[in-house]
Amino acid sequence: MVVVLDFGSQYTRLIARRLRELRAFSLILPGTAPLEEVLKHRPQALILSGGPKSVFEEDAPRPDPRLFAQGLPILGICYGMQLLAQAFGGKVERAGRAEYGKALLTRYSGPLFQSLKGEVQVWMSHSDAVTELPPGWRVAAETEENPVAAIEAEGAPLFGVQFHPEVAHTPKGLQILENFLEVAGVSRDWTPEHVLENLLKEVRERVGSERVLLAVSGGVDSSTLALLLARAGVDHLAVFVDHGLLRLGEREEVEGALRALGVNLLVVEAKDHFLKALKGVEDPEAKRQVIGRAFVEVFSQVARERGPFHFLAQGTLYPDVIESAGGHGAAKIKSHHNVGGLPEDLAFELLEPFRLLFKDEVRELALLLGLPDTIRLRHPFPGPGLAVRILGEVTEEGLAVLRKADDIFINLLKEWGLYEKVAQALAVLTPLRSVGVAGDERRYGHVLALRAVTTEDFMTADWARLPLEFLDEAARRITRRVPEIGRVVYDITSKPPATIEWE
Ligand code: XMP
Repeated sequence: MVVVLDFGSQYTRLIARRLRELRAFSLILPGTAPLEEVLKHRPQALILSGGPKSVFEEDAPRPDPRLFAQGLPILGICYGMQLLAQAFGGKVERAGRAEYGKALLTRYSGPLFQSLKGEVQVWMSHSDAVTELPPGWRVAAETEENPVAAIEAEGAPLFGVQFHPEVAHTPKGLQILENFLEVAGVSRDWTPEHVLENLLKEVRERVGSERVLLAVSGGVDSSTLALLLARAGVDHLAVFVDHGLLRLGEREEVEGALRALGVNLLVVEAKDHFLKALKGVEDPEAKRQVIGRAFVEVFSQVARERGPFHFLAQGTLYPDVIESAGGHGAAKIKSHHNVGGLPEDLAFELLEPFRLLFKDEVRELALLLGLPDTIRLRHPFPGPGLAVRILGEVTEEGLAVLRKADDIFINLLKEWGLYEKVAQALAVLTPLRSVGVAGDERRYGHVLALRAVTTEDFMTADWARLPLEFLDEAARRITRRVPEIGRVVYDITSKPPATIEWE
């Protein structure tokens, strides 16, 4: 396993993900974690991430110096390389100017670059540079601008790269990371089969003969979790609350898939309860709160009626764990309501089997557990469902219109082979109405907005460059089949400044 020490780079998570793609287990710890905490995980190698500070600043975060004396293989990336160079007696200085963006390695050699051929493009983002190597180290790569783009120690598995091998703009970066794992002798046993086996064992041991309650939303995480519990053979009840804010055919699809795979599923029909609670509510945050509260009410009632349950299982993923542990104090943009705020008399022990997994790893597990692709490869869908895609008050009529339009858009994306090329696609029903003409008649229909985005992590996103012919077909089909819609527009705003959802 590899410990990635985080010094605050926006790419740290990506480093851990890339290592897992290479089937090496990896965990992220704070950069300043003491030696004992790092060694507890029995790492076979360390990676020092990049970071926004300069190594010569007083308050720059530094690793525990004892880590350098363990004989562990280390790769330092960007700021991490500078920390490494400094720790072994080299010199780091502010470069004349920042190097930012794509660069080409003009020369490269050594174990890190093993089997690389031809042009090697790398992504640079730094303003400090290593100006003097530690004694006994050599330069392993350079760019036009930077004579010290990568360094290595002679006779010890210590490496530094000034560029970012983990990002997509370094196309051969994965090979560079793989070379490091090879040199470091890191085990590559983090396969989906291995992960599944461990999880089944962990769940069986922890749960024993206790009962587990969980909420399924129809998304990949909670569906996979339900399947895991079913496969583990533990006593469970999966509750699917149909809040009436779902997409066309979604409930039937989830029911069919999970029941067939042995999940003990209870579907609660709660449409009227939610629509009543949402009546007259227009503000986006108020909607989320109303839905969150209604969910807790319905779910608690089931828990009481069908209980007692010792465990509450949740599909918490590693990025959520890192975020809450890191406590970066990001501003609250939207409150995300899933299962939270349960009443005090319902005390459960939490079971979070996916807390060390990334989303793509859950998808791999889902494949092993037999979840159909329609659910497994589905885009994320917000907990409050279509309610945040109808601007203003949520009504039954609005839901019916949006459901049809959304279904046409999503199916068309699939027909054109575009669904899997975008990270999320949605339709938004606006209260705006505009004049149109159909035959000889004047029409006064709603404006529907289509949105599709590409993104790695949903924190930032770019609008998807869908082909114009596709958009043309989407607008025609929607206005033809959904007469309540008079105009279709495509959202070309990135995040930031916009968010992915409109509310
Ligand atoms: P935004 O709109 O904040 O969305 O850019 C980022 C991702 O989060 C989803 N989203 C939600 N998910 N409850 C959820 O479970 C919510 O209230 C919620 N609001 C947004 C959104 O669909 C996107 O994937």
